[in-house]
Amino acid sequence: MNYYEKELRALKRSGRFRRRELPERGVHDFASNDYLGLAHNKNLHLQTCRQLERGDIHAPKASLLVGGYHHEHRNFEKELCRSNEFEEGVVVGSGFAANIALIEALVRKGDVLIMDASYHASGVLASNIGALNKEFFAHNDMLHLEKLLSRHQDKKRRIVAVEGVYSMEGDIVSKEVFELCAHYDAILVVDEAHSSGVIGKNLLGVYDLYDVKIAPNHIKMGTLGKAYGSFGAYILASEHIITYLLNRAKPLIYATALSLYDTVLAHRSFLYIQEHKGALKKEIQRRQQLVYKVLGIEMPALILPIPIGNNERVIEIKKELEAEGFAIGAIREPTVPSAILRIIARLGEDAVSFERLLRELRNYF
Ligand SMILES: Cc1ncc(COP(=O)(O)O)c(C=O)c1O
Repeated sequence: MNYYEKELRALKRSGRFRRRELPERGVHDFASNDYLGLAHNKNLHLQTCRQLERGDIHAPKASLLVGGYHHEHRNFEKELCRSNEFEEGVVVGSGFAANIALIEALVRKGDVLIMDASYHASGVLASNIGALNKEFFAHNDMLHLEKLLSRHQDKKRRIVAVEGVYSMEGDIVSKEVFELCAHYDAILVVDEAHSSGVIGKNLLGVYDLYDVKIAPNHIKMGTLGKAYGSFGAYILASEHIITYLLNRAKPLIYATALSLYDTVLAHRSFLYIQEHKGALKKEIQRRQQLVYKVLGIEMPALILPIPIGNNERVIEIKKELEAEGFAIGAIREPTVPSAILRIIARLGEDAVSFERLLRELRNYF
């Protein structure tokens, strides 16, 4: 008997069926989140291997709290804190786990979670654990957020969750969120999965872009599997919030610490980005200018969503573009309310191929 056959048939009928696919060889990658192309940088990989070879272990062996904490973790946390001007930090096994850790541990009885309606699935999943009090505000709508903050002034704590750059819309969170959270004494969680390494004077993300002075209510979550060309995540916050998370957040307590390879690789990539930020920023701007020139669309970061509105059609277009030598994302419901093509203007592909893809895309809208 096939236990889930009926459900799979329903998914196929509605054009929502998903499958893993190995990437075609020789196709230009405009689909992955490797924004700066660092996943292809063999020097960073070799430097990481050499550094690990010098130590006596190469795997973390246990959770951070029972012997799995290594000086490579600490060095990277210190670097992240210093550059981002946060008091304390902790590395986490993945961005998904970091969101579960933050939302599940921070929102207690008598608090309210106020989350952008487009927040990542990991945060939404965490908001469904237990019976926490939660509200969603319309995507990036600061008037709606203010209404909710004002309505919940009687709550013990207000915890607001936003993304720096939204993974599907590609837009940047409004600067007003920082002022509103300060005014209503709310804790602010910013998921910088798609903004760190991509925006800001120092390519550090949205706190950097808006030149926000870091305050005790600020929390930054970042992932290492995107612009940083590695795998894993980190949380930066005040010393007391990080200490609290280490005592309450289950993904930090009950999971093996971040792999040492991923930690060292991300650290090396981070330093590489800081060293080459001028050149990288120029290349990012070049991609943004090309999008404007060919399609007349402003792309504030490196994500270009193209609305198509039909689950079957986005898959067809993805296949047609693949035949032309371009891999792009075809994102369907329920990940997005209405199907889109999601193009990542990765620096790992040259600007000439990117412009060719943009010209192809003109056939579709
Ligand atoms: C906004 C956002 N947050 C969190 C995650 C999860 O991060 P990770 O892939 O490191 O688990 C993603 C990942 O795809 C994401 O887009």
